[in-house]
Amino acid sequence: MTSLFQSHQLGELTLPNRVVMAPMTRVRAAAGGLATPSMATYYAQRATAGLIVTEGVQPSLIGQSNPGTPGLHTEEQQASWQPVTDAVHVNGGRIFAQVMHGGRVSHPDTTGTRPVGPSAVPAVGDVFTPTGPQPAPVPRALETSEVPEHARSYADAARRAVDAGFDGVELHGANGYLISQFLSSNANLRTDRYGGSVAHRIRFAVEAVSETVEAVGAARTGIRLSPGGTFWGVRESEVTELYTALLGELARLELAYVHLEATADEEVLVALRRAWPGTLVMNPVVPMGPKQTGRSEADHWLGLGAELISFGRAFIANPDLVERLRTGVPVAPVDEATYYQGGDAGYLTYPAHQYSA
Ligand SMILES: Cc1cc2nc3c(=O)[nH]c(=O)nc-3n(C[C@H](O)[C@H](O)[C@H](O)COP(=O)(O)O)c2cc1C
Repeated sequence: MTSLFQSHQLGELTLPNRVVMAPMTRVRAAAGGLATPSMATYYAQRATAGLIVTEGVQPSLIGQSNPGTPGLHTEEQQASWQPVTDAVHVNGGRIFAQVMHGGRVSHPDTTGTRPVGPSAVPAVGDVFTPTGPQPAPVPRALETSEVPEHARSYADAARRAVDAGFDGVELHGANGYLISQFLSSNANLRTDRYGGSVAHRIRFAVEAVSETVEAVGAARTGIRLSPGGTFWGVRESEVTELYTALLGELARLELAYVHLEATADEEVLVALRRAWPGTLVMNPVVPMGPKQTGRSEADHWLGLGAELISFGRAFIANPDLVERLRTGVPVAPVDEATYYQGGDAGYLTYPAHQYSA
């Protein structure tokens, strides 16, 4: 069976192992959405991952979901990432930026603008704002003529990412954010070519991916998906048909990878594995659920045909996660209180295991 510690060819990159650091928002960017020296240290500490995927990065101000997240839509933001990618590369790592447009999961107090979405349907739940959680606002439904510029914003951010030294980008197509809102059948009530049938609901995702492939190349483009996921109140009808159709289009575009979350039954996920001929990154547990991905979940999914496995929380608390998994040193527990607290505590302070000589 494939082992987590075998190498894997991903586009032009040779990954030395199959352990991927999953994207995780840590809200530690500086004012103006700039990456910081602490962020460079954080990612560089984790450079033994086969591949790092960064926290969600907004491709436009209106696409920003949470306060304190970094962007890739200004010259200053682009320049601020160069020390991050350099630090990872100096330590021998590889890093993709996750491009995340929040769509309706946003707030005017965060961006200064009313959020947009496929339809004027609010997300379920409270969104983070600079003054604390507030009910998700009713978004403004995008005009048909406006949709392409939002698809293009992923590509513009991708171009900036590659210019800032990233090895590629992952489009955030999961977890109830903009792409996922278009895929959904209750956040997307459109009657134009972007809503309704499966072919229409996948159109925004396909356009965002196509634009990105054109901008930086298929070998540098991945996408994350959460089939059947219900984050922020999204529901999807015809889940298997929807994702089979989408994966068919993505296969035609020859993306570097598809990153799937275990948000559907295993039977559905295995069928989607079959529908996707390229590299599959599997995130084996439901995000924000009680269970955390460990070695056994990883091996289970390698057995089911995933090429790469992503770990989230374990990477926060274990900068040397790959070595711990390889040697069997216990994986340290994560302190949830510091996820979004800001500052270096619970960010740069998790030690690597000290092996005796
Ligand atoms: C603090 C935190 C922030 C997260 N932020 C993101 C994000 O920005 N983008 C994303 O796709 N998933 C995000 N996730 C989900 C993780 O990528 C991952 O799917 C989840 O933690 C489950 O994997 P695990 O059991 O290995 O932690 C986040 C998870 C955590 C714990």
